[in-house]
This record gives sequence, structure tokens and C-alpha cells, in this order.
Amino acid sequence: MNCESSLKLENGKYMIRDIDILGLCKKYGTPLYVYDAAKISEQIALFRRAFKGIDLKIKFAAKSLSNINILKLMKKEGIGLDTVSLQEIQFGLQAGFSPEEIVYTPNIEYFSEIIKAAEMGVSINIENLSNLEKFGKEFGNRIPCCIRLNPNIIAEAEREKVSNWHNQSKFGISLFQFDKLEKLVEKYHLRINGIHIHSSHAIMTTEIFLKGAKIIFDLAKKFPDLEYFDFGGGIKVADFEGENVIDIVELGAEFKVVFDEFCAEYGRKLQLWFEPGRFLVGESGYLLTEVVVRKTNGDVEFAGVDSGFNHLIRPMMYGAFHEIVNISKPNGIKQKYSVVGNLCEIDDFGRDRMLNEVSEGDILMIKNAGAYGFVMSSNYNARFRPPEILIINEEAELIRKRETMEDLLRNQIEIEI
Ligand SMILES: Cc1ncc(COP(=O)(O)O)c(C=O)c1O
Repeated sequence: MNCESSLKLENGKYMIRDIDILGLCKKYGTPLYVYDAAKISEQIALFRRAFKGIDLKIKFAAKSLSNINILKLMKKEGIGLDTVSLQEIQFGLQAGFSPEEIVYTPNIEYFSEIIKAAEMGVSINIENLSNLEKFGKEFGNRIPCCIRLNPNIIAEAEREKVSNWHNQSKFGISLFQFDKLEKLVEKYHLRINGIHIHSSHAIMTTEIFLKGAKIIFDLAKKFPDLEYFDFGGGIKVADFEGENVIDIVELGAEFKVVFDEFCAEYGRKLQLWFEPGRFLVGESGYLLTEVVVRKTNGDVEFAGVDSGFNHLIRPMMYGAFHEIVNISKPNGIKQKYSVVGNLCEIDDFGRDRMLNEVSEGDILMIKNAGAYGFVMSSNYNARFRPPEILIINEEAELIRKRETMEDLLRNQIEIEI
């Protein structure tokens, strides 16, 4: 279940909260990222509603959209932050989060980074035995830590690359190593205050989630100092209208029953943490791109745009589906097009899409682009990264400028050749 999209067609114009999107493209040029703050707030409210009655702490996964203004919005909404690097922690501090509101969940990290994060006062999440041992030697039980477990549930992933719970996954401490984990905890008197698992979105059904939770609850009884469970992120939003995705309200209700049972058995109420990224910001974001070239190869009609996988890599990297709308011609006759980018590579945004008739100069809107969009962008082909706009309090605010040649050359050092 998801909230309604905030995109509306009114008098032939596509609007987000009374802002005319074509007008924004005219003002700022394309490609352009646009985010809707009110949609983010709605998703946070929905998340809270779903887990009502539980001591819930939402930690926004900064990796999904790390513009400082988005982080400030999260802070204002009263939620915390999930970070995977020291730099993301610094972003969080700059956005006004206190260290206690930030959790650090890196993987394949230098131990020196864990020491720094501990010095910064954020919650520490450790995902491998090597660093857990070093943590024990360095801190003993002076600082608590959370452990990230991999419960080795065979993922029902459509795509191998995102099957994080699968036992091939590099993430977390495998349950096959649980006895070693217990020995380390005993040896260094570690204060394990949290248990973390992160599922990939592909396995997020209520049934599988509860299966994972029960495995973790059984193991949790071995740790007397627990304060919270952290179930990571991975809650999917619909890629297109009518797609069957997890119903978070149903998940929350069913989870509450088993969680309450666990807490009663454990002897005290624990907190429930989540680290959602795409659920909070995915649908709030749109990538707008202009059709530069219309061409055909006889079989396929191409709409070639002024963007590419350097700006939104998910279709090429994961085969992700992003709905595309021709916002310049709301009433154009529907035809089949392949929307392709301008990089000198295979560069598809969408194959065989039914779009309102497309001409050069039209603006295409690529939906659900808020999460893992701009943050995964690059300067490949020496193209500038797009500006970002945040629609907030009925205004469209520029929150990142378009790059320039200066940005592309900034760190290059010219030598005598
Ligand atoms: C540890 C952890 N937490 C949270 C997230 C956020 O996931 P999502 O954006 O799917 O909610 C990720 C994503 O990979 C992750 O690895």
C-alpha cells in the first residue's frame, strides 16, 4: 500500500503541489531532479502509523538521497539517520542531528573508521567478526555495539544482485559463525545493545520478514543487554500503478503481535529501528529530461534524451523499472518508444514504453527517481550532474546547482607532458 502520487494533471499541465513542472524545466533547464517534501512527510507519517504502539525509531538511510536539505527535512520530521561512511555521519551532524540520533552501519570498513565513529558518539553497528574482535580489544564493554546478522534465509529475489539475505551475501555475520560470535562476546565482555538485519527489497513480503524476525528473536535471548532491533531498510514502493508491494500497515500489525510476545518473554520492551531509504524518498523524486533526438531504426522508435545512466543508473544497473511520462503532450496519441540516454554505451531508461506521442523538445518525466538517483550519478562522458530542486512550503527551491566545467576539472592536476 502506498500513498497517492503527488503528481497531478490540471488544465493540461503536470503539477506537483501547485508548481508547474514544465515551468521549472524552462527556468532551470534539463536534466533536472525534483523532489516533493510533502510526499516525504506523508511517507514518514505512514511508516509511523504502520508501527503504532511500538517504540519505533526511523533512521533515514542517507545513502539513498543525501542532499543536506533532505537530511534537514528528516531532522525536522523528528527521525534519525542511518549512515554508511564517516562522511555521511558528517553530513548528518551538519544537518543538525545529534550523534545519538545517528547509526553507523558500514560494511567492509577499516577498523580505524569504527574508532572514529565511536569517538563521534554515534551508534555502532558491526557486521564482521574481524572488526568485532578489534572492537572488543579496543573498547571491551565501555561502549555498546549492535551486531549485524545475516540470517541466511534464501532470498526470493528477482535479481541475484540484491539478495542480501542470501547466504552468498557479503553483508552481516553469518549464522554459521554464531558460535564464534558468542565466544568473542564472552571473551571481551561485549555489551551487545542491538541486533540488526537488513533485507533487500526483493524479499520483503510479510511472511518472509516475520520468518527472519523469528530467527533473530530466538538468537536474541542469548544477549541480555539488548535495547533495540534494527530491521534495516528494504521496504519497496510500487514501480507502477497497481504493482503488488508489501502492505506496510499489515506488516506492522502482524509484526506487533510477535514483537510484543518476544518482549514479554525477554522481560522488557525493546525499541524497533528501521533504516528506510527508498520508502521515504523514492516516490518523492522525479528526473526530468528533454527529448533531443527522435529516430528510428526501422523496428524501434527511439526517444533520445539529454540524460543517461550517469544521472539515473538503476535501469541499467538493476534492470529497475521507472515509469516514464511525456509531460509535454498529455493528450498525445499513445505510441511505443524506447527511451534512451545520450551516453556512448547501451543506455536505456525504458524499452517499448507506451508514451503520448513524442517529438523533439518534449520533456519526459522519469518517476520514482528520489532514491538512489542523484546519489549514484557520475560525470561519465564528462557530462554535468543535474541540479536538484526541492518543492517545499509551496515553493520550488534550488538545492543544488548544475555543475560546470570548473567542477569537472577541480581535482585534476595538469603536469608537463
Ligand atoms: C544497512 C542498510 N540499511 C538501509 C538501507 C536502505 O534500503 P532501502 O533504501 O531499500 O530502504 C540499505 C540499502 O542498501 C542498507 O544496506
